[in-house]
Amino acid sequence: MRSNKEAITKSPEPFVKWAGGKRQLIKQIEDYLPLELKNGYITRYIEPFVGGGAVLFHVAQLYNIEELFIFDINPELIVAYQTIKNNLEDLLEILSKLATEYLLLNEEKRKEYFYEMRSQFNLFRKEPNYNKIKITALLIFLNRTCFNGLFRVNSRGEFNVPCGKYKNPTICNSANLKAVSNILQKARIELGDFEKCEKYVNKKSFVYFDPPYKPISNTSNFTAYAKDNFGDREQLRLRDFFTLLDRKDAKLMLSNSDSEDLFFENAYREFIIEKVKARRNINSNGQKRGTIKEILIMNY
Ligand SMILES: C[S@@+](CC[C@H](N)C(=O)[O-])C[C@H]1O[C@@H](n2cnc3c(N)ncnc32)[C@H](O)[C@@H]1O
Repeated sequence: MRSNKEAITKSPEPFVKWAGGKRQLIKQIEDYLPLELKNGYITRYIEPFVGGGAVLFHVAQLYNIEELFIFDINPELIVAYQTIKNNLEDLLEILSKLATEYLLLNEEKRKEYFYEMRSQFNLFRKEPNYNKIKITALLIFLNRTCFNGLFRVNSRGEFNVPCGKYKNPTICNSANLKAVSNILQKARIELGDFEKCEKYVNKKSFVYFDPPYKPISNTSNFTAYAKDNFGDREQLRLRDFFTLLDRKDAKLMLSNSDSEDLFFENAYREFIIEKVKARRNINSNGQKRGTIKEILIMNY
């Protein structure tokens, strides 16, 4: 069942630290994966809100997955997945140059270098035919060196996270990028809204949805991944889509925060809801880190 394992020397892991990343929840998710995935019947994995892809990489290397379909609404993230798939060598060249230049500098100069790269990223991304390899290298560089590794954009869609203070960050992890590129060879990678995945869903599919969190309180800001907010209306549009895919006989799982107002219990009352505990790392208020409850919703 461990397809591809022999060919890959290192297990692929997320190449960016992403807000809402599911690394902390992998063990719990593994417990609830459908039997049909574990016994090899399911061969297609679909993830419409891929982000850093923690679950994608976990499932793709452990199970009998022949085809991967991944989507996200963040243009630079999707360009990064496509570049790692198609232009790995060129990417490694640029990224390792950025890493070497940065790591040689002292703290003050590193800060200047970071802000210079951040303005380059924000300038380039607005150009119609930007260099995709350069933008991917900058995205990875900024993600590895920014405060908290939090990808956040302002209302103009610009990356605006301040500089972090890591002593020796791993900016260019070639072994991992190679493993990621290897697994992405069987992936179709598309920019767009989650509903775009519909045409690929069949009964041999497992679809994992990890939408932006519904904020637990008004002050938490977990939905700020892209400039468009993912409010209650969007959560309900997603529920309708989940119900539509359920009729296609695919196996579906969705995760979200366990909001106190029973929003998900009401919206998904036709389905199975499990509560699991997870550590959440990314929060601008350090005091609020720690264990929080998440929910997993399944149609099986
Ligand atoms: C919680 S994150 C996913 C985290 C991911 N599971 C991981 O482990 O890193 C949610 C993702 O949904 C994306 N997103 C937001 N609105 C979307 C939409 N309407 N359609 C598709 N993706 C969307 C965001 O850009 C973000 O990457």
